[in-house]
Amino acid sequence: MKDLETVREEALSEIRRTKDLQELQSVKAKYLGKRGVVTEALKRIREIPPEDRKEYGRKVNQVKEAIEEAVRKREEELKREEVEREILSEWADLTVPLQNTAGSLHPITVTLRRIVDIFRGMGFTVEEGPEVELERYNFDMLNIPEDHPARDMQDTFYINREGYLLRTHTSPVQIRTMLRRKPPIQMVAPGKVYRRDDDPTHSPMFHQVEGLVVNEEANFRHMKYVIESFLREFFQTDLPVRFRASYFPFTEPSAEVDIGCVICGMEGCRVCKGTGWLEVMGCGMVHPDVLEVCGVDTDIFQGFAFGMGVERLAMLLFGIDNIKLFFENDIRFIRQFS
Ligand code: PHE
Repeated sequence: MKDLETVREEALSEIRRTKDLQELQSVKAKYLGKRGVVTEALKRIREIPPEDRKEYGRKVNQVKEAIEEAVRKREEELKREEVEREILSEWADLTVPLQNTAGSLHPITVTLRRIVDIFRGMGFTVEEGPEVELERYNFDMLNIPEDHPARDMQDTFYINREGYLLRTHTSPVQIRTMLRRKPPIQMVAPGKVYRRDDDPTHSPMFHQVEGLVVNEEANFRHMKYVIESFLREFFQTDLPVRFRASYFPFTEPSAEVDIGCVICGMEGCRVCKGTGWLEVMGCGMVHPDVLEVCGVDTDIFQGFAFGMGVERLAMLLFGIDNIKLFFENDIRFIRQFS
């Protein structure tokens, strides 16, 4: 009986001194576990003279209950302390006036502005179009027929309203601008676009800048000059630029524009996949059918267009290797662009 009283006191004081839940668990096991002190005491009831067994059993059970109760209480306390510690470490007084509160521009904003400013300097106007776009402007009027692979459900986010979708490129702004204004046109259209794509270099939402020039003498050489001048201004170096024959339904002829890899200096690296070249935009002479559905007289006018991926250019400009960094809004990342 004396021993049991000591066991109880020792147990309770050990429980009180535990510092975390793990420690509490091991103290609990020491007394109440399969081989625990109290459990063993209960087993010893057979060694007790029959006339004392009742009293002994009662006492052991009392000790057991007291320990169980103390463990429960301590557990609650420890849990509460843990939450408090967490709150304290994460606590911030949002009413304290901050020093150095100047924010910084998001790297995509920095890049967009840089692109648009260069084209403004070349006399381009800036146009905008909606992100929820007519299927007709995003596809049909751009000469992308119903059965074109770009229309596949894989690429396009459709919305549950017949005839509308999330624009997959900024090219519908070409259509909107030509429907609204008579040539000469010399515009860029920055904005968000959406595609069902998601990996380290593709995001379901990203930005493009579209360019469109329509006048009486727009030609491929003119386009080449504009794009090369832009790229050299953007990267601030006299980098190699090449035009590679390609295909877009809304331009003919079409080309893809490559620049000498700015990451490895054309030695061949992971980013340029060992080729020394990086694709940065698509372009071409606007298909006469596209001009005509927009009411542009193709006996008088011709045009060229181009479209570039802003995230891609930003990644190359700043040496960023994962597109997701742009959208996580980690302040430590964003701050590097102030
Ligand atoms: N819209 C094309 C794309 O998203 C790019 C492009 C724009 C190509 C204008 C040619 C002319 O891939």
